[in-house]
Amino acid sequence: MNFSFSNSTRIEFGQGRIAKLASLIDADQKVLVVYGGGSIKKNGVYDQIKDALKDHSWLEFSGVEANPTVETLDKAVELARKEKVDYILAVGGGSVIDGCKYIAAATLYDGDGWDILTRKYTVARALPLGVVLTLPATGSESNGGSVVTKAATKEKLSFGSPLVLPRVAVLDPDVIKSLPERQVANGVVDAFVHICEQYLSHNSDAWVQDGYAEALLRNLVRLAEEFPQRDNDVWRNNLMWTANQALNGLIGAGVAQDWATHMIGHEITALYGVDHARTLAIVQPSLLRVQIADKRAKLEQMGRNVFNLPQDDNLAETTIEAIERLYSSLEIPIRLSHAGIEGDTAVPALVDALEKHGMTALGENRAITLDVSREILQRAA
Ligand code: NZQ
Ligand code: ZN
Repeated sequence: MNFSFSNSTRIEFGQGRIAKLASLIDADQKVLVVYGGGSIKKNGVYDQIKDALKDHSWLEFSGVEANPTVETLDKAVELARKEKVDYILAVGGGSVIDGCKYIAAATLYDGDGWDILTRKYTVARALPLGVVLTLPATGSESNGGSVVTKAATKEKLSFGSPLVLPRVAVLDPDVIKSLPERQVANGVVDAFVHICEQYLSHNSDAWVQDGYAEALLRNLVRLAEEFPQRDNDVWRNNLMWTANQALNGLIGAGVAQDWATHMIGHEITALYGVDHARTLAIVQPSLLRVQIADKRAKLEQMGRNVFNLPQDDNLAETTIEAIERLYSSLEIPIRLSHAGIEGDTAVPALVDALEKHGMTALGENRAITLDVSREILQRAA
């Protein structure tokens, strides 16, 4: 096992922690507060930010959409340059946070910001970034990844850089009280799949990473079981911390990672606008079935240690069925047709998009070629 691991994001976790921004951001920094469609104006988060930053110089940019578009984000870049801001504060879920990572990097880049997503430009500088998380799901609040969409071409691409790792992330579980049920369920599923992408590969004999991944997966199974009674602090605390830990780099250190479900899922969102987590629940079970030979040992381990299933010859398959039941219990679609997508037309379009984006050898063994992706999508129809 070989790895470098560092995660320098300072986490402030707990009720009332937004007030700490007053001291966490240097008083001489001019702050651009960035948020989405306005949920923070209704649930009191905006007022808490306003209070916390009362001694700072700050301005705001709103309207970052779910699955943030470069078209919108470039307006924020223009504002950040014109106003010479020093610090970006993202207030939102994965979309706003990812959007702010792009803004932080693109503001200090002279070329076309989309070059960051096409990897024509490797991020060399970025403004410092802080986060107030409002939706536990992506782990974006303490990782260096970002996913941005170009609406004009319906492309959804990702980039990663340690330079856009948030300096500080405030995780106040109270802020999720206002989330619609659909977004909470999405959060449980997205976090679950993040862990699977790092755990359901071949065995790396990594006891720390495997054991912690299994603890997080068991948490999510329990959170799903208790979903109908979720209106309490314990449930909210544990969802917020579990989703964060699922993708902060620790369980992925030194182990074989997959991420094919995510890459195929991004194309479904780009072409059909399906919520990120829902694309994962559609792709993953069929991907696991197509790749069952390579993943059998880990699927069996997950079946035993996460779902408490008995060892038998079908354990890998019954584990996949347990995953599907988990998603269905949260009313998350697990087939393209459940999301209103017609497989006959969608599968060729999605395979073309994967080809265009160079997604021709996905998965931990780079064995998911376009033909394999086609089979996965056909089985997911
Ligand atoms: O825009 P507002 O009005 O705030 O409404 C948002 C949005 O409509 C709403 N919302 C957020 N917090 C709320 C709230 N509504 C009420 N109360 C609150 N406290 O929720 C809606 C969805 O928000 P969004 O940020 O889009 O959701 P999520 O956190 O699931 O982020 C999804 C995005 O993250 C990317 C996805 O691809 C997608 O673009 N991902 C980022 C990753 C990363 N950076 O590490 C990893 C993930 O795999 C994922 O790909
Ligand atoms: Zn995800």
